[in-house]
Amino acid sequence: MLVARTRDPADCILSNGRFATLATAGGGLGIVEDGALAMRDGRILAVGPSREILSRFEAPQEIDLSGRLVTPGLVDCHTHLVYAGSRAAEFEQRLAGRSYAEIAAAGGGIGSTVRATREADDATLLRESGARLAALIAEGVTLVEIKSGYGLDTRNELRQLTIARRLAETHDVDVATTLLAAHAVPPEYRQHPDAYVDHLCRETIPEAASAGLADAVDAFCEHIAFSAEQVTRVFDAARAAGLPVKLHADQLSDSGGALLAARFGALSADHLEYSSEEGVAALARAGTVAVLLPGAYYMLRETRAPPVESLRRHRVPIAIATDCNPGTSPLTSPLLAMNMAAVLFGLTIPEVIAGFTREAARALGRLDRCGTLEPGKRCDLAVWDVETPAELVYRLGLNPLHARVREGRWLPH
Ligand code: NIG
Ligand code: FE
Repeated sequence: MLVARTRDPADCILSNGRFATLATAGGGLGIVEDGALAMRDGRILAVGPSREILSRFEAPQEIDLSGRLVTPGLVDCHTHLVYAGSRAAEFEQRLAGRSYAEIAAAGGGIGSTVRATREADDATLLRESGARLAALIAEGVTLVEIKSGYGLDTRNELRQLTIARRLAETHDVDVATTLLAAHAVPPEYRQHPDAYVDHLCRETIPEAASAGLADAVDAFCEHIAFSAEQVTRVFDAARAAGLPVKLHADQLSDSGGALLAARFGALSADHLEYSSEEGVAALARAGTVAVLLPGAYYMLRETRAPPVESLRRHRVPIAIATDCNPGTSPLTSPLLAMNMAAVLFGLTIPEVIAGFTREAARALGRLDRCGTLEPGKRCDLAVWDVETPAELVYRLGLNPLHARVREGRWLPH
């Protein structure tokens, strides 16, 4: 008697691809050569050798990838992309020798973008920010973090976050929002920075949390922004509001930022150029992700790179992001950020790709849902017209994206 072999139902099978699953505890990319992926209801059912997947699953649709490389959809875990205006004139001043800190002290820097953002109407903010978001999406991003921080009063901070949420509806991408009201002291509080911090703790943070507009709270701990003591108060308020924290830490000086982030069990500590060995060890113990931002390092012509060797030695997870912002990193290219992380910071190809996928998802507290190609996770993919992972990182200015897949939907580039 013949027994019909039944195969499990899938919605779609992607076959004949090279899959970087990132599903390895160790260092590699978890590559499956001549692989296939079965998906159902927007989730990954299985990834494995084509022959095995095709014998286990059947689907009404099969897409032949012709040997293309598939990675998890890229995750840009640190951006400030909702703002208005441009700081090209300040860029010109910096080329002429003025420093970022000098420009900030003279009322430029973050302050000038705050003025432009407060003055812009919602439609302008949506249009200008949407163009930047579209550029990220065009290079394979399926999840992006967007910070506020150019409103610096409750109404405008919440408005930035609302626009970030709106962008998730107008664009085919997931958005994680972060309240960064502690980005700079606004002009109204110039003489009373502590009063601004009080105001954040009493009003802005609780309101953003209760409106459901913020997924996390960030702060800028630096001599030109907020002290460790002030950030501690901001983080206490975030904790009271039930929100996780992250920190712009040790970007321009060792301000004890990494230690502070670790003390609060932050999701991530970002920049870290000046972090001490002690700070790095604390990040490791806290399970905090180090987010490296080579675009800002490059634009500010920094000479001190983040302590990559020490991060590796202490096994701190390393993510990479664009830091898309009008001042220090007007960068909307994840691929260029990856190349910079390799060339300027000496990261390996697997570190760079993990940094824009698995570790970036971890930095947003979403590794349970995305960031690797594993059964049960959302089927968010980037399909690339390259054969090897190194080719993705090596080119400058050529975008080999072939398609994105979001929740199982094939979105041609
Ligand atoms: O990540 N460090 C502080 N914030 C941004 C810069 C913001 C700006 O200059 O507008 C950064 O580098
Ligand atoms: Fe930043």
